[in-house]
Amino acid sequence: MINAIEAMADNICARHLRIASSHPSAKVIRIEVADNGAGLSDAVIGKIFDSFYTTKAEGMGMGLTISNEIIKRHGGELRAENRPQGGSLFWFTLPL
Ligand SMILES: Nc1ncnc2c1ncn2[C@@H]1O[C@H](COP(=O)(O)OP(=O)(O)O)[C@@H](O)[C@H]1O
Ligand SMILES: [Mg+2]
Repeated sequence: MINAIEAMADNICARHLRIASSHPSAKVIRIEVADNGAGLSDAVIGKIFDSFYTTKAEGMGMGLTISNEIIKRHGGELRAENRPQGGSLFWFTLPL
C-alpha cells in the first residue's frame, strides 16, 4: 500500500488505491492492491523482487523481496502486473 501511494505521488488525475480480498477456491484467499500510478516498465518488472532493487532516491528495495519470501514460505504466490487502464496491480494468494 505504501508502494502504491508512492507510485501515485506525481499523478495529475485523482489517486485511486483499491484493496480487495477474494476467495478464488475453498482453500485459497487472494488479496489485491491496485493503484493508478506510474505502473511498471519491463525493466522494473524483471527486477522487482530482487534484494535492494529500488527506483526511489530514499528507497531500500527490500519491501517486495521480504513480502515475496514470506508469502512463498507460507505456500502462496505474489505477482506484480500492469493494469490495462494504467497503474499496477499487486496480488498474492495464501492457502487456508
Ligand atoms: N505500486 C507500484 N507501482 C510502481 N512501481 C512499484 C510499485 N511497487 C513497487 N514498485 C517498484 O518496485 C521497486 C521495489 O519496491 P520495494 O521492494 O517496496 O522497495 P522500495 O519501496 O524501497 O523501492 C520500487 O522502487 C518501484 O520501482
Ligand atoms: Mg516499498
